[in-house]
Amino acid sequence: MAARVLSLALLASGLPSTLAWGALGHEAVAYVATNFVASTTKSYFQTLLGDTSTDYLASVASWADSWRSTTAGKFSAPFHYIDANDSPPSSCSVSLSRDCGSGGCVVSAISNYTTRLLTSSLSKSERQIAAKMVIHLLGDIGQPLHCEALDVGGNDIDVTYDGDSTNLHAVWDSNIAESIAGGSSLSSAKSWAATLTTAIKTGTYKSAAAGWVSGLSITSAQSSALTWASESNAEVCSTVLAKGLSYVEKNDLSGAYTTTATPVVNLQIAKQGYRLAKWLDAIAAAA
Ligand SMILES: *[C@@H]1O[C@H](CO)[C@@H](O)[C@H](O)[C@H]1NC(C)=O
Ligand SMILES: [Zn+2]
Repeated sequence: MAARVLSLALLASGLPSTLAWGALGHEAVAYVATNFVASTTKSYFQTLLGDTSTDYLASVASWADSWRSTTAGKFSAPFHYIDANDSPPSSCSVSLSRDCGSGGCVVSAISNYTTRLLTSSLSKSERQIAAKMVIHLLGDIGQPLHCEALDVGGNDIDVTYDGDSTNLHAVWDSNIAESIAGGSSLSSAKSWAATLTTAIKTGTYKSAAAGWVSGLSITSAQSSALTWASESNAEVCSTVLAKGLSYVEKNDLSGAYTTTATPVVNLQIAKQGYRLAKWLDAIAAAA
């Protein structure tokens, strides 16, 4: 829980809240994954992370957002997003050559930390970092505004949510997710994930889930991650900014906007959680 305490401390100190999904979204992705990983995968990551509790993935899911705020981890800040230089809402696209900067991006970072997890010559602490990055970044890449350059991924788009001034990025990181989960605690994340897990196993997502992981390959990690980034980015045109910039600037986003966004946020969290499970399964099998 140290990561959570640290990020609350950082928020309290007045640093901008550009932390990605917020802890809740990352924890929900992690719990969905926890519900789908093979038992050998569970043992492998519980051992690597030194945590035999059922929260072994969720507890480290936001660590990367604390790390990026430290001097030692500052270099990893660009790993949380990809700056798609497209033109929403009329045209959305992601191109690695155009959008993944020289400091790296979420697509290259997923590939890097997946490779590092499988590199047995690295120290255990380096492989722990790699695990925590993979667990986190498969969440970030599902947040549409982490796959968009416009106005710093919406951080510079001033909006109102339930009467409070905030920005569009934060609304997608936290407000909509919290409105769905009914809170921001670890237990809210767990029960939200339980609902999404049922939807994957027997409900709304049952027929789609296999397609979410088709072509998933840790040996072509960059290509899998680029597919996920492109899907997220497409939501910027079809949902996040579908009605244009002036619509999000002029309306309180806690109303109709959240109603429209809710199925997209549910889908993105469910997808990334299910993908994370299969990704970790493939890593544990190869390790
Ligand atoms: C891969 O991860 C290591 C360890 O955090 C980092 O030093 C390196 O810059 C990363 N490389 C790329 C290409 O992202
Ligand atoms: Zn992040």
